[in-house]
Amino acid sequence: MHQAAESIIRPGRRRAGVLTFLGLTLLAAQPSRAADTPDPAAGRTIAESGVLTGHVGCSACHLMNGAGQPDVGIPRLAGFSATYLEQQLGFFASDKRSNSWMAPYARMLTQKQMQDVAAYYASLPEPPPAENDPAGDTLRARGKEIFQKGDMPHGVMPCGGCHGPAGQGMGSFAPHLARQSAPYLLEQLRQWQQGKDRDPMGKMMVTETHAMADADMQAVAAYLQSLPAPDTGATK
Ligand code: HEC
Ligand code: HEC
Repeated sequence: MHQAAESIIRPGRRRAGVLTFLGLTLLAAQPSRAADTPDPAAGRTIAESGVLTGHVGCSACHLMNGAGQPDVGIPRLAGFSATYLEQQLGFFASDKRSNSWMAPYARMLTQKQMQDVAAYYASLPEPPPAENDPAGDTLRARGKEIFQKGDMPHGVMPCGGCHGPAGQGMGSFAPHLARQSAPYLLEQLRQWQQGKDRDPMGKMMVTETHAMADADMQAVAAYLQSLPAPDTGATK
């Protein structure tokens, strides 16, 4: 009886020890100032009306639901990883990723505002699929093949290996691609293929696209825009 009681208590004590340890570790990992916590509601206001009078909010181009404008190559932001969005805003602001549309808007934001607006767009559900998708089935089928199997003889690795099997992205490392605007995707791929290192994270994509045929880049872009919303397994 004594021994039984001992064996019940001991693991409990050990568990309590582990929990205290975890608790302290979590406490230590918490940002110390509340101001560091991203505020999606403040981010919503930035998306709606911007941060400076006389300038539009992000939604003028990316829309309030973050669907972007697929036909004209304005990317979707909804459902992206907040860390990826914040990182890209930092690249635009410092011209590490050069884009004349985005540079002024990114420069208007403080680091905290970047965090807030990234948290807002990251929190949104998948927008509806693009209407009037003109790509044919044959093109999309080739795109799917590239996405899943790559084109190994030409050094093209399967895209899904880094971007997730459903194109859902892998945190801040490799972005969400499913349902992204095909013209936007194609433009990014073509830039990399020409050796333009978009930003400090883009080297892998320069290697990836180095020997890719333009037809294959068109195919994979068409396939990705047509993808259904990934399940809840999306990595944020
Ligand atoms: C005048 C239109 C316009 C406005 C306003 C605008 N954007 Fe953009 N945004 C673009 C375009 C165009 C691109 C694509 C840039 C490229 O091709 O590299 C882009 C790209 C981005 C990207 C990169 C997405 C990716 O997949 O890598 C992020 C993040 C972004 N915008 C966030 C914002 C935020 C946040 C705001 C508001 C503070 C904003 N944008 C305002 C037009 C706009
Ligand atoms: C070895 C890993 C790896 C593989 C394989 C890979 N990617 Fe990427 N990809 C990345 C990384 C990392 C980024 C982020 C680059 C950056 O921030 O500039 C990226 C970014 C992108 C973007 C930019 C998205 C945006 O929102 O701006 C596109 C488009 C893209 N990849 C398409 C593809 C396609 C299509 C394939 C397959 C043909 C592929 N990738 C294979 C790692 C990879």
